[in-house]
Amino acid sequence: MSRNSRFLLALLAALAITGGAIASAASGPKQPSEPFFPRSGNRGYDVKHYDVTLGYQPRSGMLVARDVVEARATSGLSKFSLDLDGLKVTSVSVDGEEAEYSRGRGKVKVVPTTLIPKGKPFTVELRYQGVPRKVIDPDGSPEGWYRTKDGAVGVGEPVGTAAWLACNNAPRDKAGFDIEITVPHGVKAVSNGRLVGREKVGGRTRWSWSEPSPMATYLALVDIGKGKLVTGHVGKLPTWTLIDPQLVKASRPAIDSLPGIIRWESHIYGPYPYSSAGSVVDVADLQYALETQSRPIYAFAPDRTTVVHETAHQWFGDSVSLERWPNIWLNEGFATWTQWYYSEKHGGRTAQQVFAELYRKPASATGFWNPPSGHPGQAKNLFAVSTYVRGAMTLQALRDKVGTHALLRILRTWVTENRYGHGDIEGFIALANEVSGKHLRGFFQRWLFERGKPWH
Ligand code: ARG
Ligand code: ZN
Repeated sequence: MSRNSRFLLALLAALAITGGAIASAASGPKQPSEPFFPRSGNRGYDVKHYDVTLGYQPRSGMLVARDVVEARATSGLSKFSLDLDGLKVTSVSVDGEEAEYSRGRGKVKVVPTTLIPKGKPFTVELRYQGVPRKVIDPDGSPEGWYRTKDGAVGVGEPVGTAAWLACNNAPRDKAGFDIEITVPHGVKAVSNGRLVGREKVGGRTRWSWSEPSPMATYLALVDIGKGKLVTGHVGKLPTWTLIDPQLVKASRPAIDSLPGIIRWESHIYGPYPYSSAGSVVDVADLQYALETQSRPIYAFAPDRTTVVHETAHQWFGDSVSLERWPNIWLNEGFATWTQWYYSEKHGGRTAQQVFAELYRKPASATGFWNPPSGHPGQAKNLFAVSTYVRGAMTLQALRDKVGTHALLRILRTWVTENRYGHGDIEGFIALANEVSGKHLRGFFQRWLFERGKPWH
């Protein structure tokens, strides 16, 4: 959740929860591009897997990378591009043959020696290095590669991942990830998925992580820093958690409730989507938490409601992903409503109480109606308060209309039908109509797309 909304959500959580428990392919066909980040992402291929090998030196900030990208051509390719923001590329090969390449704004443009026919799988191997940069995104928040006192954080919503990874940086292209990070002894390196290896190499340690389920590039995580890497499990699900020593005490209650939160959310939304879980808490001045796949990162000591939010994203956002950023409501509205419903089911305020209180507020006191959640309008509004608050109110208003049972059926069907893939607002509306047997178009029109307070 983001800086301005975090404040409001903390406030809402305080209200809600009692009992102390919580808190281009140049040759490819033209397709409609991402409106908010038209320069991110590339056409003409579909990535299946990234095999990423990183070496990082916290002192100098130097990153050395080898990135093996397995993709399939979706059109005949005489050339293609990958996103990479800064850094120096030292070699590129395609299917083992050295390829010509050049740099353009945020791109590596590759010319393979022979045309890649449509439908053919191919492998690109890139080597690059340098001091990766912090990216300031349209709402002023930092992302990309963020240096901390004892290491670094790599986070990428919406587009920061290209600061350290050469990739097809658009959520429509999800892929499996193996991320291996070699760092000096004394610091840990954590990423997404399962820890599959930990080896000493000279004076350094190599940490190997594997996330086999399709993942959007913005959900990739690198966290390098001090702390104890704690392993655990939720039933059969293995967990890995790294907390900065400074934040261990303050984080404990919320982080320790992750197993219960995963169980509860699995109960209402269906099976947890991934083969691992856990948390990263690091001291970084990001002002937000991020639902990095399988293992969210908190740039502060989180409260329980924030853990509920980021964990809900594993279903809403991570497993079922947006293809285009204007669909952000499907991520943030759903994760925020889950916070309210969690409170209701754990002895706190009901979601309806939270809704009613917000709905009653005089227009002069509300920053949360605009822009309407289904139409953020501009990239800088992606994480506006309205995306979260009006977004969650929309689901609560829907619950009011169709009943709790139908709402939960809609949500469960949504995550089941679109598991590991994508969904858009239009599809959600169609599903809600179908499952509830009601005509909800007018309702969604008012709640998602019209400015100001919707009548209800
Ligand atoms: N998706 C994150 C959350 O859980 C918020 C990310 C904020 N990022 C930003 N660039 N403002 O709510
Ligand atoms: Zn969120």
